Amino acid sequence: MKVLMVCLGNICRSPLAEGILQDKAFRSGLKWSINSAGTNGYHTGEAPHHFSQKVAKLNGIDISQQRSTKFTANDFELYDKIYVLAADVLDEVKKIAGKKFDPSKIDFLMNELHPGQNLDVPDPWYGTEPGYHEAYSLINKACDAIIAKYSPIPKGALQQETSNSI
Ligand code: 4NP
Repeated sequence: MKVLMVCLGNICRSPLAEGILQDKAFRSGLKWSINSAGTNGYHTGEAPHHFSQKVAKLNGIDISQQRSTKFTANDFELYDKIYVLAADVLDEVKKIAGKKFDPSKIDFLMNELHPGQNLDVPDPWYGTEPGYHEAYSLINKACDAIIAKYSPIPKGALQQETSNSI
């Protein structure tokens, strides 16, 4: 599965979402391709915000090599699933995608935790460090829910295997 995480600048929230889901997919044996993009393009080519890098690193994830890219209409052809981090991002995605907008491929990331509620991951860009920790926590829980839905390794299977072989 090819997954794209989208926010406004692609320097605060979606780089975290890319790094977190990549880490969880790898650990779960899912050979997914995960990327991120931003709708405004203001930070194209830049590394993630230093607080996003910091909070990721504190949780054992290195996102320092990521570079901001701008979301394009063609992303609806390149990806199987597109997650927006907030409602204003969805509005921008619709504008950019035009006729290529495909509602069957897109959802709010937070709907994986709270189905149908269309909740935002609040934008930490205008705030201070705690906002980045809050964003990490919300994104981390939503990504756990994604992995639980798709993981080929059922919960407890490894435990079962071990006990059977004794
Ligand atoms: P992000 O945060 O969408 O989580 O990357 C933002 C970063 C930059 C801007 C807006 C939001 N900006 O307007 O420059």
